[in-house]
Amino acid sequence: MLRDGELVYFLDEQGRRHWAKIQTGMVKVEGFGVIDGSRLVGLESGSKLSLAGRTLWVLRPGAHELMESIDRGAQVIGAKDAATIAHRLDLKCGDLVIEGGVGSGSLTTVLINLVRPTGKVVSVELRDEFAMRARKNIARTGLDGCWELKKGDIRTVRIDLRADAVVLDIPDPWEAVANIGKMMKGGGRFSAFVPNMNQVENTVKKLRSSGFVEVEALENIQRVMEVHPGGVRPSFDVLGHTGYLIFARKVIDQTEAKD
Ligand SMILES: C[S@@+](CC[C@H](N)C(=O)[O-])C[C@H]1O[C@@H](n2cnc3c(N)ncnc32)[C@H](O)[C@@H]1O
Repeated sequence: MLRDGELVYFLDEQGRRHWAKIQTGMVKVEGFGVIDGSRLVGLESGSKLSLAGRTLWVLRPGAHELMESIDRGAQVIGAKDAATIAHRLDLKCGDLVIEGGVGSGSLTTVLINLVRPTGKVVSVELRDEFAMRARKNIARTGLDGCWELKKGDIRTVRIDLRADAVVLDIPDPWEAVANIGKMMKGGGRFSAFVPNMNQVENTVKKLRSSGFVEVEALENIQRVMEVHPGGVRPSFDVLGHTGYLIFARKVIDQTEAKD
C-alpha cells in the first residue's frame, strides 16, 4: 500500500511518467493539476485514478524507473549494463559494496536497491559537483539509508571494510586495482565499466598480474522491439555503444585469510 512520504509516478495514457511525493495536503501532478494526498495513501500501487477528466495510474517505482528519472550530469550506466553488473556481482540483501566514481548515482540506485535493508553501498567520488548531484538524486529516491558517500580518490582512499563487491566507473580502473584489492573479501567480486578497448586491455592485464581470477570482459548488445498492429520489428534507433564490462574475483593466500 502506498505510504505518506513515498516517491511515486503517475503514468498517463501516452506512457509518460509524472513524478511526485505523496504527502498530506495537495500533491501536484505536472500537466494534470493537483490531487488530495489523502486519496493516495493506502492505495495499491497500480491503482487507476481520474484527474482533470483524464486517466492516470499511480505506481511505486523500482530501480529501473528511478534510474531513468535521475538528474544526469555525466554519462550514466543504464539498465542494460547495470543488470549485468548486478548479476555478475551476485548482489543481494546484506552485501557490502564499494563503488568508485558515483557520477550522477544512476548505478548507485541499482546497487543500494539490491543490498538494502541490511547491506550498504559506500561510494567514493573525486569531484564535488558530482558528489552533490548524486547526494540529491539518491536522497530523492529514499534509498539513502543504506548509502555512504565519501569524497576521495578510489585509487588511494582507505576504507576500513572488506567488501563483497567492488564496481568502478572511472577512466583508469587499472590504477585502482591495487588499492581496492586490499578492501575486498576473499572470493569478492570486481567489476569495471569502461567505454574504450585500451581501457579494457589495461584493466584486464592489471587484474591478471595482481592475482585476480576468472577475469573476463564483455560487451552487451540489446535491441528494442517495436510491437505495432502492423508488425513486430527491431527499433530503427541506432544500436549505440555504451561501454565494456570487466569482471574478476579476488582470491587470497591462506596467510591473508580472515574469517
Ligand atoms: C562516468 S561517471 C560515473 C557514472 C555513474 N556510474 C552513474 O551511473 O551515474 C565517472 C565518475 O567518476 C569520478 N571519478 C573519476 N576518477 C575517480 C577516482 N579516481 N576516484 C573517485 N571518483 C572518480 C568522476 O568524477 C565521475 O563522477
